[in-house]
Amino acid sequence: MKVLVIGAGNMGLTYATGMSKSKLLKKHNIMVLDKSKEKLEEVGKIAYFDAIDKIEDCVPQADIIFLAVKPYHAEELFQRMKKLVNPEQLFISIMAGVTIKYIQDALGIQKVVRAMPNLPAQVGKGLTSYVSADEVSRLELFMVEGLLDTTGKSLRVKNEKFIDASTGISGSGPAYVFYFMQSMMEAALQMGFSENVSKVLVSQTFTGAVELFNQNNLNPDTWMEKVASKGGTTRAALDSMEDNNVNELIKEAAFAAFGRAVELGEEY
Ligand SMILES: NC(=O)c1ccc[n+]([C@@H]2O[C@H](COP(=O)([O-])OP(=O)(O)OC[C@H]3O[C@@H](n4cnc5c(N)ncnc54)[C@H](OP(=O)(O)O)[C@@H]3O)[C@@H](O)[C@H]2O)c1
Repeated sequence: MKVLVIGAGNMGLTYATGMSKSKLLKKHNIMVLDKSKEKLEEVGKIAYFDAIDKIEDCVPQADIIFLAVKPYHAEELFQRMKKLVNPEQLFISIMAGVTIKYIQDALGIQKVVRAMPNLPAQVGKGLTSYVSADEVSRLELFMVEGLLDTTGKSLRVKNEKFIDASTGISGSGPAYVFYFMQSMMEAALQMGFSENVSKVLVSQTFTGAVELFNQNNLNPDTWMEKVASKGGTTRAALDSMEDNNVNELIKEAAFAAFGRAVELGEEY
């Protein structure tokens, strides 16, 4: 099986690297195409895969094609690809907001999987939600899942609306976590800790809390009750958050991302 990744950006290289490290595919069965010579030179140095700069030299040979360019480059790319593709090929798009139907119509093919990864994919801890066109077989979906899982976990969703919804939770979510971390680091600095110590305090707190959550089958609110005793310090913090409606504001932020994902999808 030959896999082609189009777009040697952050995400394209993340998948190409994940697949090459996983040993699911042999080295010369992974190709990466990019129009940028600089990026291809970088790819060449990593040498896990074949770097290619001519679309004719890779698209016809590929069984699975990852589409990892920015959405505004899709139209131009599809015009160049259209005469080189065939209906047996499987396309996995990670382009935010670009619908399955748009890809099918633009390329004249049917087998499309639309996926939404997130940034922790870069360290093998990503979450990729995905949905497929009816024409993709169960066996092909099994392969797709194997490839997506090389960068973390994958989650199959019911329809494209849930891709937009997962954009609001897991896709944009890492930034919400960084926002919370930033606020806590600023508080630590104001309390007199150095920057390095503030980083350690905050990062280990996040890592530890997530690990606790993952190792036990308890909801976050149960954990909050466990940490917060009546009249204690944690209760003072949680009461302050409740008084300031932080819970509602976080939900509003997630829905803002969801709404923006829907809006972007209307363009394609
Ligand atoms: N980054 C994230 O966290 C994230 C999360 C979810 C989804 N995504 C999606 O992932 C996709 C890629 O994002 P990214 O951040 O990796 O983008 P990126 O860094 O801009 O990488 C895309 C690469 O594709 C190249 N390219 C553009 N048109 C091409 C063509 N016709 N043929 C070959 N190569 C071409 C670009 O070259 P030039 O630079 O020369 O244009 C660039 O090197 C986007 O569609 C985005 O919506 C990203």
